[in-house]
Amino acid sequence: MSSSHFTFSIYFLTFALFLQTIFGASPLFHICSNSENFTTNDQYESNLRKLLGNLNYQTPPLGFGLGSVGWYQYQTYGIALCRGDVATTDCKTCVNEASNEIHRLCPYDKGAIIWYDNCLLKYSNKNFLGKIDNENWFSLLNVQNVSDPTIFNQKTRELLNQLATEASVTTKKYATGHIELGESTNLYGLAQCTWDLSSDDCFQCLEDAIGQLPSCCDGKEGGRVVGGSCNIRYEIYPFLSS
Ligand SMILES: *[C@@H]1O[C@H](CO)[C@@H](O)[C@H](O)[C@H]1NC(C)=O
Ligand SMILES: *[C@@H]1O[C@H](CO)[C@@H](O)[C@H](O)[C@H]1NC(C)=O
Repeated sequence: MSSSHFTFSIYFLTFALFLQTIFGASPLFHICSNSENFTTNDQYESNLRKLLGNLNYQTPPLGFGLGSVGWYQYQTYGIALCRGDVATTDCKTCVNEASNEIHRLCPYDKGAIIWYDNCLLKYSNKNFLGKIDNENWFSLLNVQNVSDPTIFNQKTRELLNQLATEASVTTKKYATGHIELGESTNLYGLAQCTWDLSSDDCFQCLEDAIGQLPSCCDGKEGGRVVGGSCNIRYEIYPFLSS
């Protein structure tokens, strides 16, 4: 898949959340691989449909699904991952929405990836299962500046490094936590990998994500670095429902 590094500013977060409540979640980002296309009624298309059907069925109960359908040039590989705290019904809604939306956004692409707040969905004709995705990344930030960036950045690294260590050794490849910033302020964080990665690769992926913070989010009150195999997030408010 093509290399992509993007940064967005979340100016209208409240408005976006308001729209989300009315119209359902919109994707955070997507990438069409643009490297190979299939045609209508191609064997690849029916394999892809079957794969997406399997992922829709398999993912919600556990929060992760992976699979492959077909042989040779028609083989397709896919994964779906819900954020670690997302309930089964919301996971199901998200993966279903993702399947429909990615089909609309990248109609004939053999490979594509789409991210939502609650889930990610990825497929390709190349076998990417168990490998770190170094190509598909994007970042989001909260434009508000912190008053003391040096200490804040250091605390952010400290929290996220700790969560990277935790996430890589847990079965759900997911960790959240917070540390105190001052008397009445906390810093909240999240780290998550797709389950097909080994513990070492999960840790490596999360460290790569943390390494991208200076170029996206240094000194900002919140940030996310999101990839095809892992993602991190920090905010000065609790951003998870649970
Ligand atoms: C696949 O289709 C897209 C959209 O029609 C096009 O932009 C892209 O160049 C095509 N890729 C190849 C390899 O033909
Ligand atoms: C944050 O700091 C940068 C650089 O000093 C400045 O350009 C920007 O306007 C500030 N953003 C806000 C929201 O105050």
